[in-house]
Amino acid sequence: MQALKICEGVYWVGAIDWNLRNFHGYETEKGSTYNAYLILDEKVTLIDTVKEGFGDEMLERIRSVIDPAKIDVIVSNHAEPDHSGCLPLMKAIAPQAAVYAAAGAGIKDLSAYYGDLGYTGVKAGESLCIGKRTLSFVPTPMVHWPDNMVTFMTPENILFSNDAFGQHYASDERTDAECDLPEAFIQARKYYANIVQPYGMQTRKALDACAGLPIQTICPSHGIVWTKHIPEILALYKAWAAGEQDDTAIVVFDTMWHSTEAMAHAIEDGMLACGLKPRLYNLHHCNNSDIIADAMTSKYIAVGSPTLNNNMMPSVASFLTYFKGLTGNKKKSIAFGSYGWGGQSPDQVAEQLAACKCEALLPPIRIAYKPAAEQLAKIAEDVAAAIGKN
Ligand code: FEO
Repeated sequence: MQALKICEGVYWVGAIDWNLRNFHGYETEKGSTYNAYLILDEKVTLIDTVKEGFGDEMLERIRSVIDPAKIDVIVSNHAEPDHSGCLPLMKAIAPQAAVYAAAGAGIKDLSAYYGDLGYTGVKAGESLCIGKRTLSFVPTPMVHWPDNMVTFMTPENILFSNDAFGQHYASDERTDAECDLPEAFIQARKYYANIVQPYGMQTRKALDACAGLPIQTICPSHGIVWTKHIPEILALYKAWAAGEQDDTAIVVFDTMWHSTEAMAHAIEDGMLACGLKPRLYNLHHCNNSDIIADAMTSKYIAVGSPTLNNNMMPSVASFLTYFKGLTGNKKKSIAFGSYGWGGQSPDQVAEQLAACKCEALLPPIRIAYKPAAEQLAKIAEDVAAAIGKN
């Protein structure tokens, strides 16, 4: 395995996790990469490490360029273990290496994971000369942990952005100039929705902090490096962080005997009548993280569950729990569901949607056993009327 040159003296020395399919609940159908970067200068510098278990791959790539024992500086932009997991390994190989992390939260988090490896805290505006190059540190707290920071390197004007602008996207191509670009944007959107979305305000601050930097390359800690499409990814982050909404509407449901499914299609009809673009997700087949990516910019969300043992179905409860943690903007909502007796689920769904800061468009919709054609037509009509009033 070889280091891959980003530009003269700067190399990608990360690891490719082709088979990652679940990243703490986020389904990663394209795998991921853990990106570490090596800078050859008077002080040999490593930006971040990789997840534990991928150290040999990183070391092999570093060795293709330089003896890893010669590393003088390690910058830890973020203490989450997918980036710091091999910090103890690197310190064992290069004990003289000084480790820089965000003052306060960065030091606290690294100490909690690995004990005292000898850290130096850095604050906003501080920089480190490593020879011909200078590293400037920019704290970006809560994008998406308290300790996050990014590192800007001159004169090449490279932003080592850690999780920001990343994608869970395994590929042998390392830049946006070589990779499947539409896939990179799909995965960047999914990454933002599933990791960064709750921190829109903090992301806006981070974008402001970086706005004056003459960025020529963005090296994130997952996925491909941005070299050609920096204005596009910055514009997308700006829109997502602002909570911008479009004309899509999502309808999420589970179903036992197709009655709640029929109600979902009636809601779809009502939305279509209003010129919206509804997207339907049967939780029996769809995963939460894909739905969240599509839900991020939708103005409307409808969630349906049959009543099962006096409750909503577990799949719907799972979705709502995930959605509650990741809501980035306020949506208008509809709760619905079929039942045989009891019929508690639509109210339970409505309660959870309210807890997600959604505003109910209609009282919860419930149908006993099997909806008749005229009941479905009435649902479509009511939904269209409620949306029309907004
Ligand atoms: Fe990729 Fe927050 O770690």
